[in-house]
Parts: sequence; C-alpha cells; structure tokens
Amino acid sequence: MNNKLIVGNLKMNLVTLSERDDYLRAIKNEIKKAKLGDDIEIVLCVPFVHLEFFAKNLKKTKIGLGVQNVFWQERGSFTGEVSPVMVKILGAEYVILGHSERRKYLKETDEMVGKKIITAIKSGLKPILCVGENSGEGMQKIVIEQLEKCLEEVNKSEIKSVVICYEPVWAISSNRPDHFPTANEIMSARLLIKKFLVMKYGLKIAEEIRVIYGGSVSSGNMKEVCVNSGMGGALVGRESLSPENLFEISKRYCF
Ligand code: PGA
Repeated sequence: MNNKLIVGNLKMNLVTLSERDDYLRAIKNEIKKAKLGDDIEIVLCVPFVHLEFFAKNLKKTKIGLGVQNVFWQERGSFTGEVSPVMVKILGAEYVILGHSERRKYLKETDEMVGKKIITAIKSGLKPILCVGENSGEGMQKIVIEQLEKCLEEVNKSEIKSVVICYEPVWAISSNRPDHFPTANEIMSARLLIKKFLVMKYGLKIAEEIRVIYGGSVSSGNMKEVCVNSGMGGALVGRESLSPENLFEISKRYCF
C-alpha cells in the first residue's frame, strides 16, 4: 500500500527572510506536536531560493522537500532557468510540473511539461504532474489529453516515480462553495486517471502510482474531497501557508 502524500505548494510566498524564518519555526513546532505515522508523507514545495535553507533546517525531520518547476535541460545556455540537477543536489525530492498557473502565466504547454518530466526523472526527482480542466471545459477530454501528451515519452520504469494530481483549475483558491467539485466528481477523475494508467502501463504499475487531489483543500473539506473520493493525498496551496493548517489536513487521513 502506498502512503498518503500531502504536498504544500507554497507558491511565490514567504517573500521576506522573516516570513521564511517564521514559517520554519511554525513547522518545527507542528513536527514536535504531531503524531503522524509512517503512512503519511508531508512534502513542502518551496520557492527555489529557500530550498537550501529548508533542506538544512529540516534535515533531521520527516518533512520532504520539493520545488514548483524545473527546466527540461540539465545545464547550458538557458538564461534564468533552473536545472533539475541543481535542486536535487540541494535537497529536493519532488517537483510540481504542469501547474495551471504556469500553463496560464508562462504559457507552458503539455509538450514542455512532457520534456520536463523526462529530465526531472533522469535527475532523480519525482514529478507531481498537475492535470485538470478550466471552468466550462469537459473534465474527461482535458484530463486525458493532458495525460496523453505529458506522459507520451514516459516509459514503464519511469512512470513509477510520477505522482498525478487532479486539480480542476476552477476550484483553485476558491472561496465559493459552488466552485468546488463533489467527492463523486473527484472520484470520477481518479478512476479516469487510473484507467488511463492501466491501459498505458498495465494494472500492476498503475496500482503503484499515486493520484492526489488539489484545489482549495482545507481541514474542513479534506475528508470529503480526498478520503471519500479515495484519493492518495492532496496538493495544498493557500492552507499550506499555515503549518498548523497543513498538519490538520494531514491528520484527517488518520481518523
Ligand atoms: P489552493 O492551491 O489550495 O489554494 O487551491 C492549490 C494549488 O494551486 O496547487
């Protein structure tokens, strides 16, 4: 059985050094208080510039680290880009790829995401591939299209290190209760993704691949959106900015 994966996507936050230091203090406090078993894995996807700091200060804890993007080449003349090898050396284990905010603001395409997945895996990182529809788009069509293109070159041995995150774009950081999928809708997305994985990689491998949910996850809705829908974990944005809330969300899997 796979353990449950709770990923905090800190996005472009912890902007000042004092915000960064406060966050570290708060997360250490939660680690001390928490009684989470080995069946829960908590990962913080931090801004690149804070990776080394968090790696150094969380070394002796069970908290894993990741980043929110990498480039599709390991080195060279790619001004402003960050190599997956660099972040691996600094302590990252995971990388979020294909997040809708990068697709929207940086015009990242499925082809680009596909190339990034391959290089990330070669560099020893575990990609968290985000797929999901915009408001008004059909879930099935978009999710399958994104999976087909992003995983086109990913073979059977490589896919084992990939996590798939179903994240309906319209449900991200939402304050409206009607802008939120039901447990049944999320379960349909999970089954669709699993079916795709079974067809492409076979049942045994598909069973090993973790599928998680993202989009306005909180401790209040966690049971509905992740536990009742059978998801293997959550990608948490806004609520992960409070370590206390992030740990509360993680604990929902224990009850
Ligand atoms: P949210 O963000 O939890 O604030 O909706 C999730 C994400 O964008 O990864």
